[in-house]
Amino acid sequence: MVSKDSNSFSHNSDSSSIISIGFEGTAHTLGVGIVRDNEVLANVYDTYIPPEGGIHPRKASEHHGDVVREILDQALNNADIRIEDIDVISFSKGPGLGPCLRMVATAARSLSNYYEIPIIGVNHCLAHIEIGRLVTGLTDPVTTYVSGGNTQIIAYEGKKYRIFGETLDMGIGNAIDSLAREMGLPFPGGPKIEKLAESSNNYIKLPYSVKGMDLSFSGTMTKAINMLEDGSPKEDIAYSFQETIFSALTEVTERALSHTEKDEILLTGGVAANKRLRNMLEIMAEDQNADFKVPPSSLCIDNGAMIAHLGKIMYESGVRHDLMDTQVRQKYRTDEVDVIWRKD
Ligand code: ATP
Ligand code: FE2
Repeated sequence: MVSKDSNSFSHNSDSSSIISIGFEGTAHTLGVGIVRDNEVLANVYDTYIPPEGGIHPRKASEHHGDVVREILDQALNNADIRIEDIDVISFSKGPGLGPCLRMVATAARSLSNYYEIPIIGVNHCLAHIEIGRLVTGLTDPVTTYVSGGNTQIIAYEGKKYRIFGETLDMGIGNAIDSLAREMGLPFPGGPKIEKLAESSNNYIKLPYSVKGMDLSFSGTMTKAINMLEDGSPKEDIAYSFQETIFSALTEVTERALSHTEKDEILLTGGVAANKRLRNMLEIMAEDQNADFKVPPSSLCIDNGAMIAHLGKIMYESGVRHDLMDTQVRQKYRTDEVDVIWRKD
């Protein structure tokens, strides 16, 4: 169990004193976060590591069910509050893996029902963006959201967070993890591939697939795995793979920036930890006179604090959900949500 707490962010100081708790569990990580105003009082999470192979949704959901009580108690303890002090309960409604979403929604609903606290189901991708805006101070960024299951380039326009580009097949993190697995490196593969890549600068050409504004990673990954089977050095493959997929991501982010005429870039999601990716985006941002920022890693990975924060601002802007509205949505799209809490 990891606990990252008590971060105060003072960019917006006009909010009321609402205490919000957020439950996250779209994939590997079960997280519970508590926020008051713009302060993170608790952010506790525990990640399911598959014993072998990729993620098994039912096994991950069982993990979430097993640890949720302990993580909740730890979060309340760290925040030094009682459940009765909470004004709103939020949870990840989607997108994500069905069994995981249902497990976490059930926990949130039971709490809401028993303690008669309002409940709000939030969009996971928007939660990444809103906590990112809060902690970086960026006001209207193009967001590059890169995780295991998600890869989207998003910007706000006309009261929606619109997807300007996205993966057509797998999430970028899943592609990296799959290559790592073929190399015998266990989950999460990202940091291990990054380390390997640091000891090579021998670029071997791999398929580069940007299709319009969209991306695809499966062809690049398959070719990299073939090269491994043919005996190319792991370091060269790791290096070439990173260079290829991160260049594609940087190209699409740059085009979204120029299309929207925005001047800020927010990088978030678990893959945002990668130094080479940050470096590429930073160089591009400098070129474009744009501000480039990345939230602290405890708020980039899947976490409960971001869910609590989005639930809080939705609640403050008048959103109310009935228990009947709290069904999970495995394919809940970023651009489905009316962003009534933004005034611009
Ligand atoms: P989501 O449900 O949003 O898709 P997730 O379960 O993939 O989330 P995250 O914590 O957002 O969870 O991201 C985990 C991913 O990030 C894994 O694929 C992991 O390999 C990748 N990752 C972590 N560190 C690095 C790194 N340094 N470089 C590249 N990838 C990384
Ligand atoms: Fe995520």
